[in-house]
Amino acid sequence: LDNGLGLLPQMGYNTWNDFECEGVSAKNISKVADKMVELGLPALGYEYLIIDDCWADHRGKDGKLVPDRNAFPHGMKHVADYVHSKGLKFGIYMDRGRWTCAGRPGSQGYEEVDAKTFVSWGADYVKTDSCNGPDSLEDPPSAAAIAQYQLFRDALNATGRPVFLALSGWHNWYSPYGESLANSWRIGYDVRNWQSAWNFAIRVNGFLSDFGGPGGWNDPDMLVGSSSKTAVQMTPQQSRTQFSLWSVMAAPLLLGSMLSMGHHDLETYTNTEVIAVDQDPLGIQGEIVWENCPLRKRTNIKQSQFYDEIPACQQVWARPITDGFAIVLLNLDAEKPANVSFAVSDVCWSSQAFVGKPCNFFEEASVRDLWRKEHLGIRKFINVTLARDGASQMFKIKPIIPQA
Ligand code: GLA
Repeated sequence: LDNGLGLLPQMGYNTWNDFECEGVSAKNISKVADKMVELGLPALGYEYLIIDDCWADHRGKDGKLVPDRNAFPHGMKHVADYVHSKGLKFGIYMDRGRWTCAGRPGSQGYEEVDAKTFVSWGADYVKTDSCNGPDSLEDPPSAAAIAQYQLFRDALNATGRPVFLALSGWHNWYSPYGESLANSWRIGYDVRNWQSAWNFAIRVNGFLSDFGGPGGWNDPDMLVGSSSKTAVQMTPQQSRTQFSLWSVMAAPLLLGSMLSMGHHDLETYTNTEVIAVDQDPLGIQGEIVWENCPLRKRTNIKQSQFYDEIPACQQVWARPITDGFAIVLLNLDAEKPANVSFAVSDVCWSSQAFVGKPCNFFEEASVRDLWRKEHLGIRKFINVTLARDGASQMFKIKPIIPQA
């Protein structure tokens, strides 16, 4: 979306995985804001604090949304002011339909009022969902669904305040329309564990790299984390893999747990070298450059077909970045570890920098392990043994270009 925002994938925190509808309150938002600052997250780029569903109670006689009075006794501007006072940006959730996904009032017919209300509270970010509106599940999205998103986009634009607009339809077929509608758009249903990370993100997003870039990003949903205190979780190694893959996918980095975040996840989310991959200014979304997984259909992955078993196979993802490539080697096999050997020259399959050049343009690269934070010297191959069940390793490589 051409509103000057989203030149890099957004980073921040969203309440949904942590709280769902229990505990979305001014008190907890303050605690989250304090914790984000205490952990030094804003300085690393995590700038948005986004309140997801269940904050809205009803519409007042003036048509304006009224937040839940118990949870937000001083109203929403008060909360936004606190978030801003901490140096963070404030985000809020709504839905294009008549009700949100959790059954709270939606914006249908009130697009202008709501856009103005959010801006009057000081919103810097709006996530707009797709439940209970016309044609929630149409493929491709119907003209009515697109028009409804356009209405809100235009209402927000008319306020004159630059607001990051994040679209939350559940389906990858929004990607071709995303760029004109929003700064990011979801590509699949909710990611809440490793199984759904595979189904709604990993197996889909490799096919969508043409659609993401500066101004608008494919959004494979939030970072789940491995806290045992939240309903939504992965193993620590899967959580780290999610972060590595999301960075190679140029995905939004929206933390889904904060108050109960453990040491391992904190170490994961504060790895500045991996964050730098995600935030690389070229903004090129990575792709699968090698895999031995069964063929998948590129498009029309409908919700009913979503629950596929995770295949027992391996993938290599690569993303061109300013000074080389970022690479993730991934073992999806739930039962067995795997050895993967990858020729560094094979990254050029994914690279716009090497378009038209033969794929053996370089043979060697200097290799750095981004999690062990170690230089491995100049290599032709990366050989790794990956533990089972979603383990991965991540490297950055700088090609050694032979002198002519
Ligand atoms: C949908 C979205 C989630 C969350 C919930 C809130 O499921 O995909 O990210 O916003 O609605 O109800």
